[in-house]
Amino acid sequence: MKRAEFLLCKQVSYTPMTTPIGAHEQVLILDFGGQYTQLIARRVRECSVFCEILPYDTPLAEIRRRNPKGVILSGGPASVYEPDAPRVDPELFTLGVPVLGICYGHQLMAYLLGGTVAPAPQHEYGRTLLTVVHAEPMFNELDFHLTCWMSHGDSVETPPAGFIVLAETENTPVAAMGDLERNLYGVQFHPEVAHTPFGMHLLRNFLYKVCGCRGDWTMRNFIQESIADIRERVGRERVLCAVSGGVDSCTVAALVQRAIGEQLTCIFVDHGLMRQGEAEQVRALFTQHFPVRLIFVDARERFLNRLRGVTDPEQKRKIIGEEFVRVFEEHADAIGQCRYLAQGTLYPDVIESGAGIAATIKTHHNVGGLPEWMTMELIEPLRYLFKDEGRRVALELGLPPEIVWRQPFPGPGLAVRVLGEVTAEKLEIVRTADAILNEELTRTGWAQRVWQALAVLPDVRSVGVMGDQRTYAHPIVLRVVHSEDAMTAEPAELPWDLLLRIANRISNEVPSVNRVLYDLSSKPPATIEWE
Ligand code: XMP
Repeated sequence: MKRAEFLLCKQVSYTPMTTPIGAHEQVLILDFGGQYTQLIARRVRECSVFCEILPYDTPLAEIRRRNPKGVILSGGPASVYEPDAPRVDPELFTLGVPVLGICYGHQLMAYLLGGTVAPAPQHEYGRTLLTVVHAEPMFNELDFHLTCWMSHGDSVETPPAGFIVLAETENTPVAAMGDLERNLYGVQFHPEVAHTPFGMHLLRNFLYKVCGCRGDWTMRNFIQESIADIRERVGRERVLCAVSGGVDSCTVAALVQRAIGEQLTCIFVDHGLMRQGEAEQVRALFTQHFPVRLIFVDARERFLNRLRGVTDPEQKRKIIGEEFVRVFEEHADAIGQCRYLAQGTLYPDVIESGAGIAATIKTHHNVGGLPEWMTMELIEPLRYLFKDEGRRVALELGLPPEIVWRQPFPGPGLAVRVLGEVTAEKLEIVRTADAILNEELTRTGWAQRVWQALAVLPDVRSVGVMGDQRTYAHPIVLRVVHSEDAMTAEPAELPWDLLLRIANRISNEVPSVNRVLYDLSSKPPATIEWE
């Protein structure tokens, strides 16, 4: 995030969230706008410890209320000595809760506790050799010479009173510091990135040796607790579960079904923005694997009508989110007394929709796209889970592989892949191109190797020539990415001959397409979808 954007985000008001998993030991990550904050959260979860990301200015009372085993201060783009730099209440360091500062968090801890921080004489960026000078407890069972990932312009010159230097590099004398009595630690490098190979070990040392965590965050526990939660909350009421055929909503349906059985009805809304043959596939999948009541709604016309003339991506998402809820509420009435709506919202949907400090990247239709007039209450058991955690839950629940490993597909469907106004004709173009792309990737075994593969129809035309005739037709953009959790992504290096074959097929088989492009952007700076 750029600094200006970050400072703007500071204005976002903070509403305390209740943690669904209150009984679990948890670590809080205070976010200073660092590009790797979500990655820190994932790494902590990988260590079997539940954690949540909160804005850096979360009131101390709220932190205390949550009774965390530890607090991690993330990196961030600011400089601690600037007047408007984001800070924490220094009382945080007196709560008796272990704190780990990473990069900006490390500098902030030093600064607030009386150390000095200044622009480093030499910026350090990339893989750097680290020498450990005091191993216990953070560098326990690690070599004395290690490789770490650095990315900073400021550095700690002198650690605060009570701190000792734990590690140094050639240009950074205080690359890691600690107050062993108060359990306060800071590292200038990024333990959360893969380029710091010992990073997970260091995080584990912090969580287990310093914070005293036991590691009670497992998907098996999660399932048992979610089922108990849902049962208690729902009582004898009825639940409508919105399913799209994707892994997240199917997992929620399976969880809710285990919790309340017959009180569950699932609903699939065909909004006409699905991929080729998808609506029929989902119906078949459900009949085969879920012995639950399924309402299948053909809402193609009403969605297309509502989208007529709409070109703004955020507007499209809001309309779709709203129309979904309208359909759900109509059917909830028809079933009779359906008080709850269950849906497969994930943690990244919440983060990217602008909860807390993160800038709103896109309003996910199932989070920020929900209308205020909605009367049903939400049940979102996966709201704090990353995609890979959701998939692990699905596997534990015994969902079939074709659901567990299904490519993610956005709720607003092809509407966010047809740039500009959505029309039936444009949808058909992007649908056919998408089918060709995915058919070829499946045929060559690439479909299982990538996170997502999609076709986009931009709102432009270009000149071409076909059969000696001038054409003025659409381009199709192919986007195939690798990703771990959709928070970051890299373009897939597909074999050239495969790309050429796909491009050839699309321009020959999809009417009104005369050009095919391959999107080479990473996320960030781009996103996976184009809208
Ligand atoms: P972006 O485009 O933000 O997408 O990099 C990240 C992941 O989320 C999916 N996506 C959505 N899913 N509702 C959804 O259910 C949405 O509004 C939405 N927008 C993006 C996207 O396909 C990718 O997997």
